[in-house]
Amino acid sequence: MLSNKSITILAIESSCDDTSAAIVKDGKILANIIASQKIHEEWGGVVPELASRAHQQNIVVVVDKALKEANVEKNQLDAICFTAGPGLIGSLLVGVSFAKAMALALNIPIIKVHHMQAHIMAHFIPTIKNGVEQPVPQFPFLCLTVSGGHTQIVKVSNYLEFEVVGTTIDDAAGEAFDKAAKMLGLNYPGGPQIDKLAQKGNPNAFTFAEPKIKDFDFSFSGVKTSILYFIQKQEKENPNFIKENLEDLCASIQARIVTILMKKLLKASKHFNIKQLAIAGGVSANSSLRKALVDLEKEGFKTFVPDFQYCIDNAGMIAITGYYQYLKGDFGSQDIEPVARWKM
Ligand code: KG4
Ligand code: ZN
Repeated sequence: MLSNKSITILAIESSCDDTSAAIVKDGKILANIIASQKIHEEWGGVVPELASRAHQQNIVVVVDKALKEANVEKNQLDAICFTAGPGLIGSLLVGVSFAKAMALALNIPIIKVHHMQAHIMAHFIPTIKNGVEQPVPQFPFLCLTVSGGHTQIVKVSNYLEFEVVGTTIDDAAGEAFDKAAKMLGLNYPGGPQIDKLAQKGNPNAFTFAEPKIKDFDFSFSGVKTSILYFIQKQEKENPNFIKENLEDLCASIQARIVTILMKKLLKASKHFNIKQLAIAGGVSANSSLRKALVDLEKEGFKTFVPDFQYCIDNAGMIAITGYYQYLKGDFGSQDIEPVARWKM
């Protein structure tokens, strides 16, 4: 620990298509502002060039809003942390350049944060539900980290101590949701739409291939192909097949993705003899995955699901990670560059 003085940090997240700024003070999030970019919907996916331009337009506004909401003045900041990767390089550049310039002007240190580590660290953001402070995971715990670009099982031994024990060999879980949604003619991002439509569907209506992958690794490309071939076959017989079965298709696709994820998490839990299980990342917003995890409580597991606002990309998770890095004295220098790929 550096000192026992109060610590206030500004955090910036711009790795993909959300521009976000947050303020953390002594481990508590005072503001978490997210500007989602709608422009990508009409293109069916994130267009990197458009994303960086939108970050450029949004960044001053979200930082300003975060400071105001937190009632913090710029000169009260002790450091600025930011997502340095992994992510879209043009998007990251906007946040990284902004953070470096602002820190230079204020003469305060900078802290570079790993986006996927931050998704996990979101579990340490204090949250209060019905007036009760929610428990946080005890070490060691396993975290299933599922986003648009990553699918991992991570063993977390302490704050900022991570070991990736399983990963996808092809697509990420979020990508599987988004690609399946595209086949069904749904808009980007498809994950939340599949989730919504699935609520009224039958998860056992259709079955899709289950991958056979070693250890705690994942694969989603076979599932994707199996969904595609199934839809193509059915549409030959009935051109209205998707329309007439949309809710059942969504429920069945979601059920397959969730069982793939949960089976591997349980396999890892058994192998490492760890019964503290958490989920993180954009796909952890999925209602079926959240339910599948929480249901394990009945079997003696302790389960942890982040608050919805801290599942999808947000600067709150960057802020809490930056705060713990600050306590460790883990500062960066002005020659830091963003990295599209960054091993955890
Ligand atoms: O973590 P995130 O916001 O961004 C990345 O770091 O990639 O994750 C985005 C992914 C997208 O693939 C999106 O479709 C998926 O998370 N997602 C969901 C849900 N909400 C977001 N997938 C399934 N069900 C949801 N409710
Ligand atoms: Zn993310």
